[in-house]
Amino acid sequence: HDHVITSKHLSRADVETVLDRAAEIAADPSAVADRHAGALLGLLFFEPSTRTKLSFETAMKRLGGDVVDMGSVESSSVTKGETLADTVRVIEGYTDALVLRHPKEGAATMASEFVDVPLLNAGDGAGQHPTQTLLDLYTIRENAGLDDLTIGIMGDLKYGRTVHSLAYALSNFDTRQHFISPESLQLPREVVYDLHQQQGGRTGIREHQRLEAVLGDLDVLYVTRIQRERFPDESEYRKVAGEYQIDRETLEAASDDLTVMHPLPRVDEIAPEVDDTEYAAYFEQAHNGVPVRMALLDLLLSEGGVSDE
Ligand code: CP
Repeated sequence: HDHVITSKHLSRADVETVLDRAAEIAADPSAVADRHAGALLGLLFFEPSTRTKLSFETAMKRLGGDVVDMGSVESSSVTKGETLADTVRVIEGYTDALVLRHPKEGAATMASEFVDVPLLNAGDGAGQHPTQTLLDLYTIRENAGLDDLTIGIMGDLKYGRTVHSLAYALSNFDTRQHFISPESLQLPREVVYDLHQQQGGRTGIREHQRLEAVLGDLDVLYVTRIQRERFPDESEYRKVAGEYQIDRETLEAASDDLTVMHPLPRVDEIAPEVDDTEYAAYFEQAHNGVPVRMALLDLLLSEGGVSDE
């Protein structure tokens, strides 16, 4: 079976297969309402989630299936010292596919070695969040197109798993990527190196500290939260908290066609006054999680599947 662990190995063809299927499903969800009747999806969330968990649950139920939810770490036998490897081996025996979110980078890769059913990485620490990337790409394709795209990716680029996954996947398309962050939260150097390698010497990557340097050139601005929970030291968090905030005044320098995205949850990066503007696509983005995850689950639970490696 296929696992979905990282976006690094998702080819352009893999992405297009999922997005095209998601568009078909979004146009006529009733056509797949019973398609996976009786199938069960295991939800293993070792970290908080609203969108990812509930949109996977919604997606599975809209395909006619159901979910088995481990619940919180505190209410599970993880508190008795059970390992992740044992937990996934047990729950795979109850279900047809597993969704795992875990605070440790690499957890999904490790867990996938112990199971035969498809395992979907719903976020591993500061590592990857590939299913978020698929809904991000779907939203970009709908709003700006994926070819000849200029995107700014801003905020916590160091610990931001949505950023890491998105940057890799976008490198398969004709994109210029501008990364905007405080110096202490720049993309990890190994990610920059990988992106250069992946782009085969094309120079589609630039790094900036100020949004003003590029805002007027952007088709899409992808804003992310500075993630307090990822900082080893609270004082380091306080130095950069609140540094990048978008409001209506900021957007006066943007193109009229700019699309503003955010994986959510937000804290104060985007003022609520932006929500009612033509720029805002972040709630639409969150809603796209359902058809995109329906498409992914449908492909994984059907013959053929979709591969990330
Ligand atoms: N975008 C995202 O992963 O949100 P949750 O943490 O609420 O799942």
